[in-house]
Amino acid sequence: MIQTLEWTDQGVRFIDQRKLPTEETYVNCTTYQEVADVIRNMVVRGAPAIGVSAAMGIALGVKGSKADNVADLKRDFDKICDVIGKTRPTAVNLFWAIKRMQQKFEMLRVRPIPQIQQSLIEEAQRMHAEDIAINQAMGKHGAALMPANGGVLTHCNAGALATAGYGTALGVIRAAVEAGKKIQVYADETRPFLQGARLTAWELVKDGIPTTVISDNMSGAMMRQGKIGAVIVGADRIAANGDVANKIGTYTVAVLAKEHGIPFYVAAPISTVDLETPDGSKIPIEQRNAAEVTHFAGKLVTPEGVSVENPAFDVTPAKYVTAIVTERGIARSPYEESLKQLATK
Ligand code: MRU
Repeated sequence: MIQTLEWTDQGVRFIDQRKLPTEETYVNCTTYQEVADVIRNMVVRGAPAIGVSAAMGIALGVKGSKADNVADLKRDFDKICDVIGKTRPTAVNLFWAIKRMQQKFEMLRVRPIPQIQQSLIEEAQRMHAEDIAINQAMGKHGAALMPANGGVLTHCNAGALATAGYGTALGVIRAAVEAGKKIQVYADETRPFLQGARLTAWELVKDGIPTTVISDNMSGAMMRQGKIGAVIVGADRIAANGDVANKIGTYTVAVLAKEHGIPFYVAAPISTVDLETPDGSKIPIEQRNAAEVTHFAGKLVTPEGVSVENPAFDVTPAKYVTAIVTERGIARSPYEESLKQLATK
């Protein structure tokens, strides 16, 4: 089983996703600042994994606090949450996880410090275990949507590496394969960080699920040739109206899918649904370093000084989304109603 991240007695251990698939190495964090850095630097990435990492980072920070009274511990706690909250802006799971840890802290306030520390560690570990169970539930709901025998296109990595385990979009694919469906996965390479070519392909090859990597500009041609029966992706944030923020390039795939009459599915936990954000235009989109675009495998591939855009995410309007698979069931249009119903269940 792939261990994306794990709480250990020595700290929080992450598989280094920057190095995959050529090197399987691990980074051990012993401070919350180190956890903030691994989230920012993409050692760990993917919305649910970012959420669980944030919770573990907070637990680690509180464990390391020198405070000898609860008021000082709360001051440290707020500072830790602030630092972790400034790592990546788009995946709402980060803020969901911080809020859950804040609520837990409030409940524990009257307890002695060692008990608060221990309970926060346990809460973070619970979130890790819950995430895997949520993905398996999502898989059960979503498997029926997958073709019995055909190609499924995915963009970025919404797999075990993007979660505590099993995956969201790849969880649905895994569940469909486990149910006996014959699926050929097409993995968009996902420039500039190559989550598809490096991570999705690595996971699926490990599982023996037939996988073909294509560069991002090939998906339209594959659809036109009839090779794609469905598209399934993850999400970083889903607005109340069903607009979906996901890895840059997702929007292009969704528009192409509609043109070809191919269903476009999103798989995401309820913690990715942000009812406080009315529509996609209000979702903050992270802009990343230009070097990710100007360089390929560490080598400059553009003229020096050329201007570059590098938004990490785009927004797919709800009208392109055939259905949203969650652990509580499947939402369909009108999303204002279906998402609200599932999120408040
Ligand atoms: O920049 P990343 O790699 O964190 O972006 C990840 C994605 O866009 C995923 O599709 C999304 O977080 C869903 S992961 C289950």
